[in-house]
Amino acid sequence: MSADPLVAAAAIARDHAFAPFSHFLVGAALEAENGTIVLGCNVESASYGLTTCAERTAIVKGVSEGLRRFKRVAVVTDTEVPTPPCGACRQLLWEFAPDAVVVLANLQGKVVRYTVRELLPAAFDARYLG
Ligand code: THU
Repeated sequence: MSADPLVAAAAIARDHAFAPFSHFLVGAALEAENGTIVLGCNVESASYGLTTCAERTAIVKGVSEGLRRFKRVAVVTDTEVPTPPCGACRQLLWEFAPDAVVVLANLQGKVVRYTVRELLPAAFDARYLG
């Protein structure tokens, strides 16, 4: 599907998506600074607001395994236009991957790239907490 192994990993993660309510399957793959790849998928809840996006699943998994900085993230969906991360995911990406490249891809291999900085200008973070 893609020559980029991170995109291929995100496509595998998408196969694990639990989305019985929206039927919108999302896979993410995070590349840590040490090269470790962490997968995430969206996990929906019958209490809809408890749903976790694929990107945040991957970040929380990685941080809980001792990884603190990430250099790239790939997100795969079955949409004509590759799907950008939601606002909540942009916030967590900013906090753990401020310099990361965000690689958005669909199943046809179309790829769009952004940086986290481009996706969340003037971000709030720990600096403001004093
Ligand atoms: N979703 C993600 O996994 N990532 C995003 O950045 C956007 C939305 C999921 C959440 C929900 O399970 C489904 O897509 C529809 O919103």
